[in-house]
Amino acid sequence: MSLQLGDQAPNFKAQTTIGEIDFYEFLGDHWGLLLSHPGDFTPVCTTELGRTAQLNNEFAKRHVKAIAISVDSVEDHHGWIKDINETQHTEVDFPLIADKDKKVAELYGMIHPNASATSTVRSVFVIDPNKKVRLTLTYPAAIGRNFNEIVRAIDALQLSDNYSIATPVDWVVGGDVIISNAIKTADALKKFPKGVKEVNAYIRYTPQPDLN
Ligand code: BEZ
Repeated sequence: MSLQLGDQAPNFKAQTTIGEIDFYEFLGDHWGLLLSHPGDFTPVCTTELGRTAQLNNEFAKRHVKAIAISVDSVEDHHGWIKDINETQHTEVDFPLIADKDKKVAELYGMIHPNASATSTVRSVFVIDPNKKVRLTLTYPAAIGRNFNEIVRAIDALQLSDNYSIATPVDWVVGGDVIISNAIKTADALKKFPKGVKEVNAYIRYTPQPDLN
């Protein structure tokens, strides 16, 4: 069965563009963003890896370490990184896993045989500092992922963890958030001093609590 939300993210050792890594040691106490790519020297993947590199500061602000994977070799990865840097005007500063034997791809269910028997689909795994899988996304090879959505979802996850809130449809940073139903309104008024907007007994909003 494929990995599900709340599951322990499996550890592994792998060859990467920064040498052999132990995944857990690489992550340390950070959040992890593990992104699979169908193949090196392909256009959609090139734009995605470029965007991942351009978001370096955004990921660092959120204590997130990105790492990418495809079933190509370390040598191919190094050659491809040169192209990514040149064509996407960036500098890839995160490791690419060389998963030639598909060990990691199989561990994480990144190969969907009815889509392709030989390469990974576009998987996203957001892993929290306790090494739990907190969010997954799966896109087909021909469709590039939306990295604004990935960052937005990480923001929502971290906010939800820190403040016992949920985020409503189409929430973006700065928007009101939803107070957990586990919190009574009297307690919510104390916990969320910016105010509680009660639409009904179970729909209650408060301004995003970590913003001034
Ligand atoms: C791409 O990254 O452009 C790509 C890779 C595999 C299949 C289709 C597109």
